[in-house]
Amino acid sequence: MTFTIAIDGPAAAGKGTLSRRIAEEYGFHHLDTGLTYRATAKALLDRKLPLDDEPLAAEVAGKLDLGGLDRAVLSAHEIGDAASKVAVMPSVRRALVEAQRAFSAREPGTVLDGRDIGTVVCPDAPVKLYVTASAEVRAKRRFDEVVAGGGTADFETILADIVRRDERDAGRADSPMRAADDAHLLDTSEMSIEAAFSAAKAIIDAALKQ
Ligand code: C5P
Repeated sequence: MTFTIAIDGPAAAGKGTLSRRIAEEYGFHHLDTGLTYRATAKALLDRKLPLDDEPLAAEVAGKLDLGGLDRAVLSAHEIGDAASKVAVMPSVRRALVEAQRAFSAREPGTVLDGRDIGTVVCPDAPVKLYVTASAEVRAKRRFDEVVAGGGTADFETILADIVRRDERDAGRADSPMRAADDAHLLDTSEMSIEAAFSAAKAIIDAALKQ
């Protein structure tokens, strides 16, 4: 049997970096499920198709190749916003969740991160983490990333975008973003990535011994 680590939480909480570190540490396969929603949205945007045509979006989602997800291309801010719009549609979620579940069964183990991994995609995962941080801290991290990359950004705009996306993700009817009842909460507001990694590692090592 494979070993799955489910990592959920809002945008810019640090779950991506943490997931990659964990996957590397244990030699597990990693899937950032946000990229599957982003790739679906981008395929629609590229073809100038509407984001709210559910049958069309579900068809695109059903044809997605998990091997072709390019994080550098898909990480653009506007694609994240468009992704959260296609992510409210149940038939899009069904298509993507099927592909995500197939991925989660890979040997010897998998790390999946997203919004509904512990609650919907892999409810039986032996380790569930819910990584969060205050909206202000998350907006500051995004702001610093943009500035470090040589871009210009407005902190208040980034903060407003983050709050709006949180509301859309937590408020939707199908698979809203939330911590599973048996998830370990990691608030990274005042925690370095190293400290978050050590806390996660202690939880995972304890579960692997069982
Ligand atoms: O994590 P990321 O910012 O890349 O996710 C983009 C959007 O995709 C999220 O705002 C959310 O609406 C959607 N998503 C989701 N379920 C997941 C992963 C992402 O609904 N498991």
